[in-house]
Amino acid sequence: MTRNSGTTITVNLGARSYPIHIATGLLAQAGDHLAPLARGRTMAIVTDENLRGHLATLQASLAGHGIASEAIVLAPGEGSKSWATLEHLCDRLLDLGIERGDHVVALGGGVIGDLVGFACAILKRGCGFVQIPTSLLAQVDSSVGGKTAINTRAGKNLIGAFHQPALVLIDPQVLDTLPPRELRAGYAEVVKYGLIDDPAFFAWCEANGAALLAGDVALRTHAIAHSVAAKARIVAADEHETTGTRALLNLGHTFGHALEAETGFSQALIHGEGVAAGCALAFDFSAAQGLCPPDDAARVAAHWRAVGLPDGLAAARITPDGARLVDHMRHDKKMAAGSLPFLLARGIGRTYLDRTVDLTDVATFLDGRPR
Ligand SMILES: NC(=O)c1ccc[n+]([C@@H]2O[C@H](COP(=O)([O-])OP(=O)(O)OC[C@H]3O[C@@H](n4cnc5c(N)ncnc54)[C@H](O)[C@@H]3O)[C@@H](O)[C@H]2O)c1
Ligand SMILES: [Zn+2]
Repeated sequence: MTRNSGTTITVNLGARSYPIHIATGLLAQAGDHLAPLARGRTMAIVTDENLRGHLATLQASLAGHGIASEAIVLAPGEGSKSWATLEHLCDRLLDLGIERGDHVVALGGGVIGDLVGFACAILKRGCGFVQIPTSLLAQVDSSVGGKTAINTRAGKNLIGAFHQPALVLIDPQVLDTLPPRELRAGYAEVVKYGLIDDPAFFAWCEANGAALLAGDVALRTHAIAHSVAAKARIVAADEHETTGTRALLNLGHTFGHALEAETGFSQALIHGEGVAAGCALAFDFSAAQGLCPPDDAARVAAHWRAVGLPDGLAAARITPDGARLVDHMRHDKKMAAGSLPFLLARGIGRTYLDRTVDLTDVATFLDGRPR
């Protein structure tokens, strides 16, 4: 296994600051970073069944440092972000005698990260945790920033807490085992950082996205480091999403969420695919409102097509009318006093939060989109 010295990015949050290490082969070296946090005690590792190979690598690295570990292996999938799994996980962690000063390791995608982070936010009123994200989405987005949550019957991510990890370890090589569809979906969140405020990075994605998805590790590592740095900056500026800066990360998510809701949050349209289609719709809507040059909206759609992500309703196989899709938006948790803030664009890299969008205009716009 190759190893390079990699990149370290710090999330600057005063006393809650933490490093994010990014390096090829880092999982096999994780013990170097975890030993100081283990304090000679047994470490709990929470993961899912698809990650048994990576779990073995991690446990071997810990054993190499004389650190014993206990694995808690959960069922893969969004269904694990539930009250039932949370209860099961907390009971298991309490059985292991986890103390406030311990650090639980979350080894997995965004599901494991969100669930373990929330369990650690409430276990003994807050214990430590470490993120070792294994999906591209988790490496560039969910493992950084301290948002944790589970889903309930009323919707996704409605029960949760802000709880920052103590450390994030990112090994781009673990993506070799990620299914290509999941890799592509995670890539939508990478491109999102370019669309928000970084047109040069969007241009880099246009030039390199296809090769990155085809397996080029150097390009992959560059994209991860660039994305993590962008997220770290945004989180440091607005940790609890109070000033509007952190809300920029929701670009494409209001439209995307409606499409995900329409498909029942199923495998028909996974999150990153919804985000891709949602970004395309946000740019098309911005262009239709005269806010954004139509050529910029066309560039966004063209890039999604170039890498095999949905560029709108037809590609996402969404057929219902605008009123029905807007109805899903009315249940969005960002809805405040009857209005829904939208991320719109004045161009590529020029996203802003608009609180004046009329949902009937959105419905009319959606009705006009090709099915
Ligand atoms: N906290 C945040 O800020 C934040 C941000 C974005 C998304 N999220 C949450 O993240 C979740 C989605 O995350 P996700 O896309 O990683 O989903 P996921 O955790 O379900 O992972 C996707 C699939 O890939 C598998 N997998 C992960 N890594 C693998 C690897 N290296 N090799 C083989 N298989 C692997 C998983 O077992 C799963 O089947 C959602 O619940 C979403 O709400 C949270
Ligand atoms: Zn997302």
